[in-house]
Amino acid sequence: MKAIILVGGLGTRLRPLTLTVPKPLVDFANKPFILHQIEALKAIGISEVILAINYQAEVMLNFLKNIEENVGLKISCSQETEPLGTAGPLALARERLVGGAKEPFFVLNSDIICEFPLKDMIAFHKHHGGEASIMVAEVEDPSKYGVVIMDEKTGKVEKFIEKPQKFMGVKINAGFWMNIGQPKNYISGLSLYLDFLRHNCSSKLASSGNLIGNVLIDKSARIGEGCSIGPDVAIGPNCVIESNVDLSHCTLMKGVNIGRRAKVCNSIIGWNSTIGNSAQVYGLTIIGEGANVNDGVELKGATILPHSVVKASIRNS
Ligand code: GTP
Repeated sequence: MKAIILVGGLGTRLRPLTLTVPKPLVDFANKPFILHQIEALKAIGISEVILAINYQAEVMLNFLKNIEENVGLKISCSQETEPLGTAGPLALARERLVGGAKEPFFVLNSDIICEFPLKDMIAFHKHHGGEASIMVAEVEDPSKYGVVIMDEKTGKVEKFIEKPQKFMGVKINAGFWMNIGQPKNYISGLSLYLDFLRHNCSSKLASSGNLIGNVLIDKSARIGEGCSIGPDVAIGPNCVIESNVDLSHCTLMKGVNIGRRAKVCNSIIGWNSTIGNSAQVYGLTIIGEGANVNDGVELKGATILPHSVVKASIRNS
């Protein structure tokens, strides 16, 4: 059985992170989004994953070379010459996906993190005998999504309404814990994901007397004295956290440096960025790759471009 993952979106809602890294390669809980999907597919015995690529194809292809070997799964690309949206990529890869075998296949978005109940889905799909099965999820605000209108008893889909202007239902075309392709959901998704780890493979979480709640720390990260870390924090490889730092509800990607007495809360810090001594970063601040935040600067709800130097405070409401 094969799967196709749609990886061709621009990821505008995750800028500035996606200004330097394609969205499927942005880290979530210390590994690229797409690796979560690939590992879940591998775990149920999928033989080949086709990536529907459009944007930043070269970066994706380089990444794939390593992954194919490490994960032990055949990965190939279906390259678009123009963005084909979400249905077009399926038509483009039709022959490779279905071939003569007429076997069912999976279609996944690259920015969804969930429990991946893929085995249950196969069983459900084979049982009802219909043409396709789709996972849905209930959301509070369906106006941003594609709403699925269906017979609640049989589950038979009647129609889809893309981003409805008036209330049509709360079940959306997704099947997720969380669509992490937008910063607020990325941060709440991390909390759900770490809680999932706590209940299913707690050994992956960091354990030490000084940590608060669920925390993921790469083993190469260094943490100074007197820090308060957690809850819901992911610290990537080669991060350096100096003394008396306060971190909660945040992600530090690979190679981030946090200066003494700095505080980071409810924010995402991109690869190799530096947060100065006593700086305060909070309120859904997103910092692009390689940025420098000077000592004592306060950032509330700020969006910081990659490789910029932030010398003055920004306080957005
Ligand atoms: P935003 O710009 O923040 O809306 O993100 P996005 O461009 O990724 O769009 P969206 O989140 O709606 O995309 C859902 C999924 O479809 C993601 O996995 C995207 O990578 C993928 N996708 C979106 N547009 C295309 C496309 O033109 N081609 C391919 N192959 N995939 C796409």
